[in-house]
Amino acid sequence: MRTVLVIGIGLGSPDQVTLEAVAALNRVDVFFGTEKGSAADELSMLRRALCDRHATARPHRFVNAPDPERDRAPRSYQLAVADWTAARAEVYETMLEAELAEGGCGGVLAWGDPAFYDSTLRVLDAVRAAGRLDLEVEVVPGVSSVQALAAAHRISLTRVGRPLTLTTGRRLVAGGYPTGVDDVVVMLDGDTAFARIEPEGLTIYWGAYLGSPGQILVAGDLKAVREDILTARRDARDRRGWIMDTYLLRRAPHETSG
Ligand SMILES: C[S@@+](CC[C@H](N)C(=O)[O-])C[C@H]1O[C@@H](n2cnc3c(N)ncnc32)[C@H](O)[C@@H]1O
Repeated sequence: MRTVLVIGIGLGSPDQVTLEAVAALNRVDVFFGTEKGSAADELSMLRRALCDRHATARPHRFVNAPDPERDRAPRSYQLAVADWTAARAEVYETMLEAELAEGGCGGVLAWGDPAFYDSTLRVLDAVRAAGRLDLEVEVVPGVSSVQALAAAHRISLTRVGRPLTLTTGRRLVAGGYPTGVDDVVVMLDGDTAFARIEPEGLTIYWGAYLGSPGQILVAGDLKAVREDILTARRDARDRRGWIMDTYLLRRAPHETSG
C-alpha cells in the first residue's frame, strides 16, 4: 500500500499554510507534480520554497513530469478534459510506481484547496480505478482563492439565507449572468468574462495574485470599474508573464428575477 497526501497549500505564501498541512508535509517522502512552463515555473518555485520552509522533519525528494498536452480548442470541452485527465492519470501512475516505495508516503501540493477546480483528486481516482496500484488518498484542506478574495475585500460571500454560485469565466461568457442568482464567484476567467456581460446593477469584487505580495484589488460598480480592471489585469500580466484572478459579482437581492 502506498499513501498519497493531497495537501492544500493556500496561495503561495508560507504563512498561509495550516498547521495540519505542515504536519502532512512532514510525513511526505516524495512530492509529485507535473510542470507546464511560465506561470507554472513560478508556482513550482513557490511550492519548493514552501517545502524548504515547512517540511523540515525528514528528508524528502521532488519528482516532476511534464504535463500532458491539452487540446485548447476542442470540439467538446468535457471530452478534452476527460482525455487529459486520463493522460495525467497515466503520468501519475508511472511516477508513483517508479518513485514511491511500497509503504511510502507521497505528497501532491494542491494550489489553494483541492476542492476548487483542481484535477488532483480526479486524477488520483482514475489511478485507483485502474486497479494496478494499491493507493490510499488523504486530503488536507487549504485556503482557496475564493476565501482569500473574501478576506482581502473584507466581505462575506454569502448573504443572510442566500445561495452562492461558483462558476467559470467560460460559463459566464456562454450563458451570461445566471438568472435567479445574486452572488456569483467566478474563477478560471482567462477571457475577462466580466467585461462581456451586461453590467447593469452588478457590483464586482475583483482580486489578482491573492494572498501574495503582488495582490491587486478593485471593487465597485461593474460598469464604472471594468475598464480599470482590464487595464490593471493587462499591465500586471505583461509585467509578470501570468495572472490568476477571481471575482465576486453581486446584485442587489430585490432585483432578482427568480
Ligand atoms: C485551476 S484553478 C485552482 C483553484 C485553487 N484550487 C483554489 O483553491 O483557489 C485556478 C483558478 O483559481 C483562481 N486563483 C488561483 N490562485 C489565485 C490567486 N492567487 N489569486 C486570484 N485567483 C486565483 C483563478 O480564478 C484561477 O484561474
